[in-house]
Amino acid sequence: MAGAEPIRVGIVGLGGIARAQHVPGYLMCDGVEIAALCDLNEAALREVARICGAPRCYADYHEMLAHEGLTAVDVCTWPDMHHPIAMEALARGKHVFCEKPLALTYPLAREMYQASVAAGLKTGVGFTHRQTPAARFAHRIIASGALGAVYHVVAVYASGRSDYQWLPATRRRTRAVTGGGPLFELGPHMVDMVRWWTGEEVTAVCAQTRTYVKQRRLPETGEMVDVDVDDGAVIMADLSGGGTATFINSSVFTGRNFDQRVEVYGSKGSLLYDQATPFELRVCVGQEMLDLWSGYGLYDARYGLHRREEPLPVVPVPTEILDAIPGADQRRLMRTFVPDFVDAIRGRERPHLPTFYDGMRAQEVLDAALLSVAERRWVDLPL
Ligand SMILES: NC(=O)c1ccc[n+]([C@@H]2O[C@H](COP(=O)([O-])OP(=O)(O)OC[C@H]3O[C@@H](n4cnc5c(N)ncnc54)[C@H](O)[C@@H]3O)[C@@H](O)[C@H]2O)c1
Repeated sequence: MAGAEPIRVGIVGLGGIARAQHVPGYLMCDGVEIAALCDLNEAALREVARICGAPRCYADYHEMLAHEGLTAVDVCTWPDMHHPIAMEALARGKHVFCEKPLALTYPLAREMYQASVAAGLKTGVGFTHRQTPAARFAHRIIASGALGAVYHVVAVYASGRSDYQWLPATRRRTRAVTGGGPLFELGPHMVDMVRWWTGEEVTAVCAQTRTYVKQRRLPETGEMVDVDVDDGAVIMADLSGGGTATFINSSVFTGRNFDQRVEVYGSKGSLLYDQATPFELRVCVGQEMLDLWSGYGLYDARYGLHRREEPLPVVPVPTEILDAIPGADQRRLMRTFVPDFVDAIRGRERPHLPTFYDGMRAQEVLDAALLSVAERRWVDLPL
């Protein structure tokens, strides 16, 4: 960008998500230099440096932060390192983008948010599903009031592989490193989506978690060890607008590969979102639509009441929504918030960019869910 100071970014953690979304996101931006990379793994450093041309590599993030004169730091490590790296970066005056879950606990996430506010720095969180075109369309429909008051939300985000029970005990499958199982891995995305879509907060939760596979084998020694994170979680939640939400996050939806579906039922209409069809929604808005469909197959005399068709026609995502998502087109989803984060650093308002505030609010719901499980009771928020 002519005339503007270049933005110098350092990325910490160069695994799957850094390579899929963060590095390509910065490479898409004008006037941004990936100035330094940091990872404990030398091969990862070499490989990502080759892809993005970063001139310097570090194994120690303290050193990178001390020596590089960075504008911003992007944290893509496992969750246990999010808080220490982000706090040090903020203390050194860097804007910070951090992957989800923002931290291992709500108090740590709150500290990160408060530090960013106190320092007047920009933040971003990897709630990438806000960049799914159908999710953006759902946000627009709900925010327009077309569905009326939100009564029910049913939000599922789950995965499942048939060999799940045989997967080894790895550090990533421990509470100390990730904070939780699918509750922490997938849950924050859905809590965020419901907050973002409805503009409402979760005001109470009642949750249940299960660890179905209670022991796993350590790959190094073959020893069986106890698993201390959930394999599945269900949360019932009150929303501040008076409706309810149900969240299901699981790793044991066998045969479902990252199954993400959200249904919203309001006083005037409803919508069905499915990540598997990211360029369309099924939407019913208003009594006219219900009347129209009621003459068209809801009732079949041969079978009695028979739901051959539902009044939820498929509506494609408008092209201007698709055009507004950086790097997305009809053949490809490019779910990165990096360009929005860069714009925010340059002082441009980016209304959909999730910030540390959103990361903290999602974390609060997860902590409340764990408390609910531990004490077998409803837990009110704010905590
Ligand atoms: N937004 C999304 O849709 C999405 C998708 C996948 C993962 N994630 C999140 O991204 C984060 C990383 O996940 P991933 O799948 O990329 O993990 P990964 O294991 O592929 O990569 C993590 C990298 O961090 C490095 N690392 C760990 N500790 C470090 C330290 N102290 N200093 C430097 N490097 C360190 C590891 O060596 C590894 O290369 C997690 O928080 C995960 O929840 C988000």
